[in-house]
Amino acid sequence: MPDIISEPAGEGVILLRLNRPEALNALSLSLRQLLARHINELSTDDTTRCIVITGNDKAFAAGADIGELSRRTVLDADFERSRVAWLAIEACPKPIIAAVNGFALGGGFELALHCDIIVAGEGATIGQPEVRLGLMPGAGGTQRIVRAAGKFAAMRWLLTGDRISATEALGLGLVSEVVPDQDVVARALALADKIASLAPLAVRAIKETVLLGPDAPLPVALALERKTFQLLFASEDRAEGTQAFIERRQPQFKGK
Ligand code: HXC
Repeated sequence: MPDIISEPAGEGVILLRLNRPEALNALSLSLRQLLARHINELSTDDTTRCIVITGNDKAFAAGADIGELSRRTVLDADFERSRVAWLAIEACPKPIIAAVNGFALGGGFELALHCDIIVAGEGATIGQPEVRLGLMPGAGGTQRIVRAAGKFAAMRWLLTGDRISATEALGLGLVSEVVPDQDVVARALALADKIASLAPLAVRAIKETVLLGPDAPLPVALALERKTFQLLFASEDRAEGTQAFIERRQPQFKGK
């Protein structure tokens, strides 16, 4: 079986399952590269509107592969190859939802942090334990966590490597919602279905603006929003969406 199983899961929705159960879905470089290939392909596939990434009941992903980390030297070119693999997810214009059950640790939670929405199960365990290995997060954890949860929560968490529950993570703003474990994938797919039924250009514009804005000065970010908003007036879907409202019918969006 491949390290990732890709399955269609509704109109315009693809479910990617991480599949290294014997290693709690530890993110070997080859798994990350395979994930990047899937995401790159889906990024340019017009029929794909939303992607869900999940693991299994025991683990979303227990981090980078510690065996590989133990052998890596400072001069390994792996850092660059690893970066390219993460970049595919970072640059994906389609919304990605993480459906998290079980352990989401280290690079595993950083993978979830690359996604746009995180649905976590009540029994999920989240942590950045790298400091306990003499390491630190290397796939955006220090930066994405401080932006999502603020300095004091981030420091408390990253400096101790403590694991937290999904409910605590929700309180810190580190996951979008918490649901019973058995409902995680279904809930993520329901959100994906809803997003897939909406206007693709608007969805894409919202994702892009939300991700770019916070790192720009507010006036620039607001200008970006205004310009992107203005651009959507060129779309057929804007005409269809507003007309459908007036005619009290469901809009038929085409992504044009
Ligand atoms: C490689 C791993 C692994 C990992 C688990 N396994 N996590 N292999 N890399 N990150 C393997 C175990 O070796 C074991 O293999 C099998 O999965 C089951 O794990 P157990 O430890 O036996 O399970 P359990 O007792 O239930 O404990 C679960 C656990 C523990 C608490 C999640 O496995 C754990 O602490 N894992 C490491 C978590 C971690 O430190 N992650 C951060 C990695 S650093 P065998 O063959 O013995 O059955 C990182 C840096 C990111 O992510 C940098 C950017 C990419």
